[in-house]
Amino acid sequence: MSFPAVANELAVALSIERALPQDAEAIAVLHAKALPPGWPAGEIAASCCNENRAVLMAIDGLDFCGFAILQFAADEAEILAIAVEEETRRRGVACRLLETALGICEERLISYVYLEVAERNEPALKLYKKHGFSIAGRREGYYHGASPAAENALIMRLDTRARLTQIEARRGAT
Ligand SMILES: CC(C)(COP(=O)(O)OP(=O)(O)OC[C@H]1O[C@@H](n2cnc3c(N)ncnc32)[C@H](O)[C@@H]1OP(=O)(O)O)[C@@H](O)C(=O)NCCC(=O)NCCS
Repeated sequence: MSFPAVANELAVALSIERALPQDAEAIAVLHAKALPPGWPAGEIAASCCNENRAVLMAIDGLDFCGFAILQFAADEAEILAIAVEEETRRRGVACRLLETALGICEERLISYVYLEVAERNEPALKLYKKHGFSIAGRREGYYHGASPAAENALIMRLDTRARLTQIEARRGAT
């Protein structure tokens, strides 16, 4: 699979790369920290070799600092996970991961991108809304983490054709 070129407008040394099975351990550590309980490294390694999935990693200089995992089915995609190391947050890393992920979706002619996010996860909700996702549904008590109260999940959806039309309109206006 080919990948769209990634511009370096936010963090000069930041690059977004396709993860390899040998990267799975580092991704699993961040996955467990940021989105507990996370996934086993073996499942992430298998995802790296699965043509119906894409595992992206963000590299800041030489340091791994974030990842995104996507799944494709027909003309739909799902963002299964996205996370950034705590000390690298608010520097545009998740934006870059998401933009690269959406570029891959466009190359694969994906019509809709879905994801689930905890209702109280304000940073993630803002991130997704900023990239054109809107709320398409709500699952009561979907997340059962360490806290005694289960948390609701929001299902968010992005119409990729509408997003492209908006990007083209913005380009035409400048
Ligand atoms: C959500 C997460 C991936 C954002 O990563 P990040 O690299 O810090 O995000 P960015 O710097 O690219 O921010 C992009 C946008 O997201 C929103 N955002 C990110 N962090 C935010 C915060 N703490 N508070 C409010 N908005 C926030 C903002 O809209 C921001 O745009 P802005 O900087 O122009 O305001 C990161 O906080 C994280 O790893 N959280 C734990 C894992 C998680 O919740 N993943 C999502 C599961 S659905």
